[in-house]
Amino acid sequence: MHIQEHVPLSQFTTLKVGGAARYLAVVTSVEEVEQVRQFAQQIAAPVLVLGHGSNVLVSDEGFAGVVLVNAVKGVVSTPQTDGSVLVQVGAGEDFDQFIEHTIKQGWWGLENLSHIPGTVGATPIQNVGAYGVEVSSLIESVEACSLTSGEHKTFSAGECQFGYRESFFKTAAGRDWVVTQVTYRLRTNAAPVLDYRDLQTLAAAADKVPTQQEIRDEVIRIRSAKFPDWRTVGTAGSFFKNPIITAQQSKELLVQYPDLPTYPQPDGAVKVSLGWILDHACGLRGYCESDVCLSPHQALVLINTGESARFVTDFAQYVATVVYEKTGIAIEPEVRFV
Ligand code: EPU
Repeated sequence: MHIQEHVPLSQFTTLKVGGAARYLAVVTSVEEVEQVRQFAQQIAAPVLVLGHGSNVLVSDEGFAGVVLVNAVKGVVSTPQTDGSVLVQVGAGEDFDQFIEHTIKQGWWGLENLSHIPGTVGATPIQNVGAYGVEVSSLIESVEACSLTSGEHKTFSAGECQFGYRESFFKTAAGRDWVVTQVTYRLRTNAAPVLDYRDLQTLAAAADKVPTQQEIRDEVIRIRSAKFPDWRTVGTAGSFFKNPIITAQQSKELLVQYPDLPTYPQPDGAVKVSLGWILDHACGLRGYCESDVCLSPHQALVLINTGESARFVTDFAQYVATVVYEKTGIAIEPEVRFV
């Protein structure tokens, strides 16, 4: 493993901006995670863990510590007697390539999450979800290593404290842990999840159960129409979280915006579609300032073609102000600011 110095982070994030890392190491094994941890401790530098950088906005000043690019690999499967299979996957595996592998093996569960950029290790951190499935429903446990003590621990799904785009690993205490492996519990019998509105055509056509490949193909078709290709354009998928507001706030908003899509939560709160608000309440779909835009195809997706993180944060701040003025909702980024 080689520790590089002064490495521009714009090439390590899908928003394609950000200054340099003082140090950067690409680690491919748990042993190398330990080596980087010890190096950072010796020089008393903070550690920033990146996977594919698909949910991070690095400032133009960069990061004055050690960036650990998590490329820990490996897939080990253990069939269970109840028709499920436990699959332990290295945090640095590409999530979509792993999903392709699960489909080849006939392991059900992750197909609705097709084409989400990023690594396997990022999935528990922000409880990645799309088209009616969140990884929290499929994660059995998460292996992680403490940056301060070097302890290795297996977190049960309960200990991960999953919520909507939330987990223990996003808390102050959780940031001390580097995810090294994720164990998913997948099914070997057909288990399609077709409740999400965009998948209704597939559900209606299903006089026979669709195959995993058919679900994957449909999800990829829908995503391709909404999301720009992160390989060519600066993007991080949804830039903000969908806000969760009180039932009373939602009732008041619906008077003004009767078509606003709302999703009641188990605790009585209500999740609302920020994409809809940006589009119909704020008129910001396709809105641009210099090189930063909200996508004309999906207003929750920010597109950056410039080279300044500052422009992106200023733009996001402007968007948040407009939403607050129109709805009284204080929105939060889904993307992590570094
Ligand atoms: N909408 C509009 N105009 C827009 C965008 C959306 O009217 O410009 C409406 C849609 O018509 C729909 C509703 O808003 O009625 C919700 O839109 P969509 O189904 O596209 O989903 P979303 O809530 O905007 C969430 C996730 C995505 C995930 C999709 C599909 C968040 C922050 N985003 O987006 O996840 O792919 O659902 O499940 O929860 C991500 O987290 O990065 C991400 C891409």
